[in-house]
Amino acid sequence: MRKIFSFVFGLALLSLAACSNAAEPSPTPTLDPLAAQGQKVFNAHCATCHALVPETIIIGPSLYGLATRAEARVPGQSAEEYIQLSILRPGDYVVEGFSNIMIANFAKQLTNEEMNALIAFLMTLK
Ligand code: HEC
Repeated sequence: MRKIFSFVFGLALLSLAACSNAAEPSPTPTLDPLAAQGQKVFNAHCATCHALVPETIIIGPSLYGLATRAEARVPGQSAEEYIQLSILRPGDYVVEGFSNIMIANFAKQLTNEEMNALIAFLMTLK
């Protein structure tokens, strides 16, 4: 009787373990809320000129991989600083092969909140 009990108990434990494995959160590709808000800002203000897929030029360069590239653009500037300055003062650093035609009044068009969300989104483009 004891053996049967421990066998059944063991089975129950096993299935419990299997269940808890299945319930473990798997990494999801969805954006955190701030970045998701930033994606909307991007779609409204930037997507007309910038693609997010590699090597696709609309009017400006593709921003695919921007967060990785941004770190090496200007010595002494972090990726976030470079990205923020690229939006607020696009003429400071002009990407090779492009002219300085990016609209320079985003400081007026975007609220601080929209700007923070936008940068959070752009920082996901590794
Ligand atoms: C009218 C078209 C246009 C719009 C709208 C526009 N951009 Fe640009 N953007 C450009 C062009 C052209 C360049 C390349 C010249 C330069 O560096 O300024 C550029 C460059 C950039 C760069 C630098 C990329 C790099 O690889 O260093 C970033 C970052 C950027 N834009 C972000 C944005 C964001 C974010 C928005 C929306 C708030 C936006 N742009 C809206 C045309 C545009």
